[in-house]
Amino acid sequence: METLLDDAIAAARLARGIHLYYQEKGFEVGTKTGPTDLVTQADKETERAIKDYLLSRHPQHAFLGEEGGQEKEAEYRWIVDPIDGTVNFAHGFPFFAVSIALEVKGELRLGVVLDSTRDELFWAVRDRGAFLNGRPIRVSATNKLINSLLATGFPYDINKDRENMVYFENALKRGLTVRRPGAAALDLCYVAAGRLDGFWEVKLKPWDVAGALVVLYEAGAMVTGMEKEPYELGNRYIVASNGLIHDELMQTLLG
Ligand code: IPD
Ligand code: CA
Ligand code: CA
Repeated sequence: METLLDDAIAAARLARGIHLYYQEKGFEVGTKTGPTDLVTQADKETERAIKDYLLSRHPQHAFLGEEGGQEKEAEYRWIVDPIDGTVNFAHGFPFFAVSIALEVKGELRLGVVLDSTRDELFWAVRDRGAFLNGRPIRVSATNKLINSLLATGFPYDINKDRENMVYFENALKRGLTVRRPGAAALDLCYVAAGRLDGFWEVKLKPWDVAGALVVLYEAGAMVTGMEKEPYELGNRYIVASNGLIHDELMQTLLG
């Protein structure tokens, strides 16, 4: 795992270099499913660079990336979001990251999330702890929902599926403090680092969460669906917290 972690970190640093280059130079922006679902030249180029780097070192591995989809089946599979927080990236709002995870025989083994503008590297290997720039991290000790700092996010097609508007309203009606930072991978790492006490979202994709999940588990977080069922990649709901506020959070969201 040690070499694989080094490779994941090197690929994330490569990605950061591309992010910063395009933030400086400017880039073309296109749309995907609608006018607010953006994709930039940097998303595509970053994914290509990560894929080339990882597969040149491990040609037998499979690769799943947001922009290019899945390439072959294998016991080892990289799961990559080249820019998580593309809308932030496109506007120069400095909250976006690259996320890289490695799954072995269907189990997530390592995760790396690098915040490009702050140069904050979150990483974890299963059973070896979670780290931020080399220092161990742990979830917060906040034990009351009303004292918590929470975050959520919304899918691009929110008007087709308004479920999270109801959860969001339920949280606001209770007077809770909720942020919407716009990069789920970082939001989840912030729960792992104790900067947020809880996070939830509906309809996240495997590449949004895979890297951060390992960091969360190793930092002592609880990660479930809306009914406390263990979270599995691709599930519709994700609720991540320090564990202490988890039940209260789910109950409040469901109203
Ligand atoms: C998005 C971000 C955002 C979340 C969206 C995701 P992208 O990923 O993580 O915070 O609310 O649901 O799709 O498109 O920036 O990679
Ligand atoms: Ca994403
Ligand atoms: Ca993305």
